[in-house]
Amino acid sequence: MRGILLAGGTGSRLWPITRAVSKQLMPVFDKPMVYYPLSTLVMAGVSEVLVITTPEDRPQFQRLLGDGHPWGLRLEYAVQPEPRGIAQAFLIAEDFLAGAPAALILGDNIFHGVGLGRRLRDRGTVTGGRIFAYPVADPTAYGVVEFDPAGRVLSIEEKPAVPRSRYAVPGLYFYDGAVVDIARGLRPSARGELEISDVNAAYLERGQLHATLLDRGTAWLDTGTFDSLVQAAEFVRVIEERQSLKIGCVEEAAWRAGLIDEGQLRRLAEPLCKSGYGDYLLRLLDWEAQRHEQFADRLVPVAGR
Ligand code: G1P
Repeated sequence: MRGILLAGGTGSRLWPITRAVSKQLMPVFDKPMVYYPLSTLVMAGVSEVLVITTPEDRPQFQRLLGDGHPWGLRLEYAVQPEPRGIAQAFLIAEDFLAGAPAALILGDNIFHGVGLGRRLRDRGTVTGGRIFAYPVADPTAYGVVEFDPAGRVLSIEEKPAVPRSRYAVPGLYFYDGAVVDIARGLRPSARGELEISDVNAAYLERGQLHATLLDRGTAWLDTGTFDSLVQAAEFVRVIEERQSLKIGCVEEAAWRAGLIDEGQLRRLAEPLCKSGYGDYLLRLLDWEAQRHEQFADRLVPVAGR
């Protein structure tokens, strides 16, 4: 499965902050926003990712993320010259996908939860499409999914004034190889965009749309407004300080996924030690070594028998 990270758009809901810098490069506490969705893709088992940005922002993203090689990833770049909708990403990514299934994540969506990576990996292979559903207080700002009592999807609507359910559709989508053709068949909506909700509606019509409820143990945050940006940063800070574990750490995700080894994690840590970020990466290695020691202790008598 290949990944698409969509980081285009004007960020106008955050102006003037995002007039000169991409929204997805804004800090969310201790790392740039784009680290969070990128690490989610890595946790979902994706290591080849097309990063789609505006033409102006592309050099900054490349400076930050490079070709991904030091993280064991393959990153490529493409541009979306104008914000013509999320579903346009599939047309831009056609060559990159080369018929492979796609995992699309929006650059301003933050996911965090115990076992989330495993659940995403389990759910990753699909015939058709897979979306997620997450209860929110005000669904009108999102795609909204409606279920029947058996959990089957009944309808998908983009930002309905009167939502049929309280389940928003987060910005993480898995599709099979048909998605490019589906995107090609879409017409722009009233706001002039190729809507991701229309892609989902097309899969629904084919009887091939699957939805997975994200339980309350999962946090899904978006970061599109002044308030939600601060709330996301505060959430990350509280969890990280309390647990001394980071959220959205691409280096850690790549190491846990086996894409890089201990030596490489150590090399990545070195230049990041002044900020404390690198110290965290080194601590991960210490913890891992301690875990092995404890484990080894317990194994000795067994092995000696
Ligand atoms: C977009 C999608 C919407 C989805 C949301 C998730 O909304 O159109 O269906 O629920 O992302 O963040 P936008 O960010 O364009 O308002």
